[in-house]
Amino acid sequence: SMMREISGINVMEQELKSLLNLHEIVIVPGNSDESPWVKEELGRASAASMKRRLKGNTIIAVTGGSTMAAVAERLTPDFSDETLFVPARGGIGEDVKNQANTICAKMAEHTGTRHRVLYVPDQVSKEVYKSFLKEPMIKEVLNLIKSANMVLHGIGDAITMAERRKTTEEDFEKITGGHAVGEAFGYYFDEAGEVVHKVPTIGLQLEDLSHIENVIAVAGGSSKAKAIRAYMKGAPHKTVLITDEGAARELLKG
Ligand code: G3H
Repeated sequence: SMMREISGINVMEQELKSLLNLHEIVIVPGNSDESPWVKEELGRASAASMKRRLKGNTIIAVTGGSTMAAVAERLTPDFSDETLFVPARGGIGEDVKNQANTICAKMAEHTGTRHRVLYVPDQVSKEVYKSFLKEPMIKEVLNLIKSANMVLHGIGDAITMAERRKTTEEDFEKITGGHAVGEAFGYYFDEAGEVVHKVPTIGLQLEDLSHIENVIAVAGGSSKAKAIRAYMKGAPHKTVLITDEGAARELLKG
């Protein structure tokens, strides 16, 4: 649109695409660190991007976080009936409102489609965990996650995420000692994009991304620039990044 041209957003999208070596980038105006409505705009842009990529039978794996929660609020009942939302991974220590299970339920409610949940406890012994994995219901959801053809995920600042989640002191030291700056899917990355810590849970693993047709990352706010840069070092080229002007300007400063 005219607005996007005048504000130079189109130019920024092109510059950021080559800087991060990504297939597609959408930048929404504003900085979500400063204005809460920008997260709503991220949600709107994500919904549009998802809809463009939907095919009849789409299984969408979704991560947790406040950005994903904002996306859920912006989804509308124009998704195919055959859409199914599943959480990307098991619990990673988040509060209920930020959990992927909760967000999937919201997404299904707003789109008038279906969702499945993955109920695996966060803090149990290895033995209990293993017996959970033998449950037919859990196996079934894990199979659905493995056959997802779309992934929608957030990217977080490493320390912010480690503090927000129930991170043990030992893991916290791994994260800070490894100089993690970014987080996605419960994986923590340093500036070079190397994984320095991973929350051990079932479901989607980082290496699974390469087999999934549509990968959409949503993250905004200037405070997330470092995290986005780090994560994108190792992210698949096909990743579509939906971000805001705040993060984009900070990223382009270098
Ligand atoms: O999983 C959490 C995301 O990586 C970031 O969370 O959207 O609340 O910043 P957020």
